[in-house]
Amino acid sequence: MPAHDVLIIGAGLAGQRAALAAAQQGASVGIMSKVHPVRSHSVAAAGGINAAISVDDDWRSHAYDTVKGSDFLGDQDAIEVMCSEAPQEVLELEHMGVTFHRNDRGEMDLRAFGGASMKRTAYVADITGQAMLHVLYEQLMKHHETVERFEEWFTTSLLVNDEGECAGVIARDVRSGRMEVFTAKNVILACGGAGQAYKPTTNGLIVTGDGIAMAYRVGAPLMDMEMVQYHPTCLVETGILITEGARGEGAHLLNANGERFMEKSAPNKMELASRDVVSRAEQIEINEGRGVGPNGSGIFLDVTVVPRKRTLEALREIVNLGRDFAGVDITREPIMIRPGQHYIMGGVKTDVDGRTPIDGLYAAGEVACVSVHGGNRLGANSLLDTLIFGRRSGEHAAARAATMGPPKLDTGSYLRRDEATLEAIISRPRDGRRVSEIKDELGETMNKHAAVFRDEQGLRGALETVGRLKEEAAGAWIDDRGTVFNQDVLGALELGYMVDCAEATVVAAIERKESRGAQFRTDYPERNDEEWLKHIDISLGESGPEVSYSPVTITQWQPEERKY
Ligand code: FUM
Repeated sequence: MPAHDVLIIGAGLAGQRAALAAAQQGASVGIMSKVHPVRSHSVAAAGGINAAISVDDDWRSHAYDTVKGSDFLGDQDAIEVMCSEAPQEVLELEHMGVTFHRNDRGEMDLRAFGGASMKRTAYVADITGQAMLHVLYEQLMKHHETVERFEEWFTTSLLVNDEGECAGVIARDVRSGRMEVFTAKNVILACGGAGQAYKPTTNGLIVTGDGIAMAYRVGAPLMDMEMVQYHPTCLVETGILITEGARGEGAHLLNANGERFMEKSAPNKMELASRDVVSRAEQIEINEGRGVGPNGSGIFLDVTVVPRKRTLEALREIVNLGRDFAGVDITREPIMIRPGQHYIMGGVKTDVDGRTPIDGLYAAGEVACVSVHGGNRLGANSLLDTLIFGRRSGEHAAARAATMGPPKLDTGSYLRRDEATLEAIISRPRDGRRVSEIKDELGETMNKHAAVFRDEQGLRGALETVGRLKEEAAGAWIDDRGTVFNQDVLGALELGYMVDCAEATVVAAIERKESRGAQFRTDYPERNDEEWLKHIDISLGESGPEVSYSPVTITQWQPEERKY
C-alpha cells in the first residue's frame, strides 16, 4: 500500500508546483493524475502570468487591480500574499527554464491584459501555461527518488479517519482497473475546476469538478461557487478559447454595425476592461440584435489591426486555432467569438497555505477558493494563483508531515466500498439514461440559466433540473463493462462530481440577491455592499447543500464603484 508524507491529486501547475516545493523540503511525495501531467488543463491559460516585474510597477498596484477586478469580494490579505510574491515566483520559473518573451533591450517583455492598470503580463507567445507545465515536469524529474508519479490513476474518494483528519485516498489505475488505498499524512487537491458542468466551455474534458466534489462530500465547505467566469472571446460553435492576449496586443471588438461598443461600458479600458464587464457588454450587443453571424449570436474580434508580424510571433496558437476551427485567417479578417464559460472563482475554501478546515486536506489552484479572485478573476492571475498557492500548500504540508507519525486508518473497508460502487455502475441495467445525455442536459441548463445574466426564475428552474439530473445520474448506464481504460465508468463518477458542483453553484447564485462580478442578477441589478459584501459558503448537510456566510477581509482598499 503506497504511503507518502504528501499526496497530491492533480498534476497541472498547482499540483506540480506543490510537489516540487514539498520535495525540496524533504518530504516523500506522491503525485497522481487521471491524465498524463502535460495534458493537464493548465495548458489552457494561454496569454500569460501577472507579476509586478517592471521597474515602474508595484505589487500594491497589482493587488489593487485584483481587488477591483474581484468587485471587492476577494480577500485582500490573500491578494496581498499572491501579488507580493508574484515577481519572485515568475523569476524563479524563468530560472528553471521557462522561456518568457524578451524585448529588444533583453528584458522580460510584458503585455497588456484585462483589468490591469499597466502592462504586467509575462508570456511565452500564447502558450504560456503549456510552456510552464513542461518545465515543471522536467524539474520534478530531478526529484525522482522522493517524488513518485501515479499517471493515469483516477481518485475515487478522499479518506477521513476517526480523528477527522484526511489520511489518504482510494484510486483506480485507469490502465488496469485495479483499485488501491493510498495513505498520506497530507493530501493536496490540485485537480482543477468544474467547467465541464457547462456546455460549451473552454475547459478540457477532464475538468469535471472531482476535487471540489470529493472535498465537499467529506465535509469541506465550498465558497464563492456562484462566481463563474465567462471569457469574452470563445469561438461561437465550439467554445474554444481565443486568448485575451489578442486584445492585449490591440485587437478590437466590433458589433454588426462595425462599432467598438466597449466605448459604452468601459470608455477608458475599452476591450481591456475586466472579463465580467466585457462579457456582459458583448451579451447585451447580441441580445439587442447587434450581433454578427448566423442568428446574430457572435461578435467580431478584429486582430487585423495588430501588425501581422507581431500576430505571427506573439499569437501564433490562435492563428492556428482560427484557421483549424473556424476557417479564418485572423491576420486578414475578423473572427466571430462570444462569451463562454472559462473558469470558476469558487471552490474548496482554504487559507493562504492551502489548508481546508479538515486537518491534512489542502487545496490549490482552480479547485480552491482562497479567495483571491472574488467575483471576477483577472486574466493571467490564474497561472499565478496555481504557482503561489501550489508552492505554499506543498511547503506547509511538508512541514506538517515532519511533525507527525503515520495516519491511522482502517483501509480495507474504504477500498471495498469504492470497488463495490464501481462494480454497481458497471452492472447497471440499460433502462435509464446514458451518462452523456445527462451531461449534455446539465451543461446546456447551466449555460442557459447560470451564465452571464441570471434571474430567480431561471435559477429556480435550473435547480429543479439539476435535482432531477442528480437522480438520473445515480442510475445512468454505460456501455463498457471491461477493466482496461474503462473511461465510461470513470465518466459516470465524473458526472456525479459535476452535478454536485452545479447544484452548489445554482444554490449560491439564488442566495446572492445582488449583482457583483460575474454574478449579474437582472432582478437585482445593483451591487449591494450593505447586505452582500460577504462570501457565501456551501456545505453538504443531511438533505443537501446548506448555506452560511463568511466575512470578506478588507485590509487597505475600501469598496468603491467599479469603473473601467
Ligand atoms: O485568455 C487567456 O489567455 C486566458 C488566460 C487566463 O484565463 O488566465
